Parts: sequence; structure tokens; C-alpha cells
Amino acid sequence: TRTPVNVTVTGAAGQIGYALLFRIASGHLLGADVPVKLRLLEIPQGMKAAEGTAMELDDCAFPLLKGIDIFDDPNAGFEGANVALLVGARPRTKGMERGDLLSANGGIFKPQGKAINDHAADDIKVLVVGNPANTNALIAQAAAPDVPAERFTAMTRLDHNRAISQLAAKTGAAVSDIKRLTIWGNHSATQYPDIFHAEIAGKNAAEVVSDELWLADTFIPTVAKRGAAIIEARGASSAASAANAAIDHVHTWVNGTAAGDWTSMGIPSDGSYGVPEGIISSFPVTTKDGKYEIVQGLDINEFSRARIDASVAELVEERDAVRELGLI
Ligand code: NAI
Repeated sequence: TRTPVNVTVTGAAGQIGYALLFRIASGHLLGADVPVKLRLLEIPQGMKAAEGTAMELDDCAFPLLKGIDIFDDPNAGFEGANVALLVGARPRTKGMERGDLLSANGGIFKPQGKAINDHAADDIKVLVVGNPANTNALIAQAAAPDVPAERFTAMTRLDHNRAISQLAAKTGAAVSDIKRLTIWGNHSATQYPDIFHAEIAGKNAAEVVSDELWLADTFIPTVAKRGAAIIEARGASSAASAANAAIDHVHTWVNGTAAGDWTSMGIPSDGSYGVPEGIISSFPVTTKDGKYEIVQGLDINEFSRARIDASVAELVEERDAVRELGLI
């Protein structure tokens, strides 16, 4: 029998946590034959609700779930963690400046990064979901100098999935026929969903669409502003789709991309495509045996270049701001 994989989830009592934990426990994160132990990390005010969620997890009698522990101390929460999903974050509230938002999140992600550094397993893989996800991942990574930098990733898979769905609706294609879509840059309104290298049933997606006006004025803003549209419709931010994307991100990282396809992940830049080294930006990546690689050699047209550059400029600004605040 396999040793259970320790999965730490922060913000476990939140709405994404509630949509996420049951799917981890049922085998969707790592595989239908991989036993897991859950470590739920919350703040003291969230402990009671996390205990309630743990009771419900027990009540599912998931065969793969080998244990649940709940913590409000990051050092204990990340002890032995093989996978860490950092979901809990400080949301932007009315009147909050970016600097306030970044320092509030620095207060969460810096100690969590340090705790990962000191207590997680050697093979730790980290996904940051809590916003601003890319920069929170950078803060955690900077606080974990003993962990290889590439183990810190940020989630743009929800944007990736949203873009596939929009493209399928526009063209009448099945979502499963759409491959090689890319989200570049920041998980924010500046992100760039790129269909110039995407394929629809083997044909170039931009050629199939053949409508640059739709691309610029409908597709890109619809994908980039989908989070706000969900809040407007549902009265609460995306939760089940965000949890689903987190499952997809880690599952793909661990189990690999399909031949001929790639995915989008926020990862530390190695300087590819002119993205400054070190910032955590979304790229097209292939994955294999638990490792990812940036897809190289894509031809970036002018339309794409301007949009990638704008999103990357925002990431550089965020990096400079957290540097100034002493968070990295
Ligand atoms: P929520 O407010 O329902 O839950 C957040 C939970 O985190 C709360 O239970 C809170 O007690 C907990 N928490 C706060 N600080 C913590 C800490 N230091 N340690 C452990 N737990 C802590 O929020 P929701 O809807 O679950 O969203 C979580 C985050 O995910 C937000 O930052 C949201 O903006 C982000 N998000 C990111 C997406 C992406 O595509 N990257 C998509 C959707 C949401």
C-alpha cells in the first residue's frame, strides 16, 4: 500500500475550501489510487467551521482519505506537507490601497513561506490561489530559500479554463477539441488569454475565429473580467470553479500534460519571452513526472506582445512594491 500524500489546505473553512476538500479526498487532486491525509490550516476564528467541514469529510467515508488534522499554527499545518494549497488570503476591502493589500497579504504569506521552508517535505509543491496570487507566491517563495524556487506556483488555470469555455461557445467546438491555449502574465484584469497558438480540432484557433474585433473587444475582456461577472450574478466570488481549477493545476503538474497539448501556470520566470527573471508570471507549460517546462519557440505577434508586456509590467510593479515593503 502507498504512503498517504500530505496535502495542506489553508483557508480550509472558506468557500473555495468547502468546494475543494471533498474533491481532494475523493481522489481528484492526485489520482484515484493515491491515499491522502488532509491538514487544514485556518486562523483561530475559522477553526470551528473547519471542524464542521472535517465532520462532513468523515461522513463521506472516502476510501482514500487517511486522516484529517486541523491547525491554526502554520508550522504545524505544513509539517510534512507534500502538496500545499494556499487559498486563505486577505481580500481587498473598500477603500484599501494596493500597498495595504500587499502588506496584509505579506503578513500571511511570509510566515507561511517560512513554515513551508522549515517543516514541509522535501518534495513540496505549492499552489497559491489566494489573491493577489502571483505576488503572494513570490512572497512565500522568498521566505523559503531552502525550497527550490520552481516549487512555488500561482493559479491561472481558472482563467485558462474560462478562456477555453468562451472559445468553445464562440466556435461551437467541444471544449475537449481545444488545445494549446495560453494565459500570459498576472492573474488580474491585465492577464492575456492567447489563442494565436491554440488549436481547435487541429486547426489554428485564431484562423478559425478570424475576428480580431471579437478577440480584442469581447473575448479578452470577458475572460479577464469573468470573476467580477460571477460576483455580480452569484452575489459571491467564484468558488467551485476556482476549486476545480486548483484541482486541475495540481493534477496536471503531478500527472503530466497530454501529448500535443499544454496548460497555463503562474511560475517563476527564467527570462523566457522577455519576462524578467524571478517574477511569477503565467506561461504556457508542459508537465511530465512532476516537473514543468515553459513551451519554447512560440512566435509572439505584435498584438500579443503588447498585451503580455502590459501584464508583466504590472507584475514588476507589484514585485517592486513588495520589495519596498521589505516582504521579499
Ligand atoms: P473566503 O473568505 O470564503 O475564505 C478564506 C478563508 O481563509 C477564511 O476561512 C479565512 O478564515 C481563511 N484565512 C484567512 N487568513 C488565513 C491565514 N493566515 N491562514 C489560514 N487561513 C486563513 O474566500 P474564498 O472565496 O475561499 O477565496 C479565497 C482566496 O482565493 C481569495 O483571496 C480569492 O480572491 C482567491 N481566488 C483566486 C482565484 C484565482 O483564480 N487565482 C479565483 C477565485 C478566488
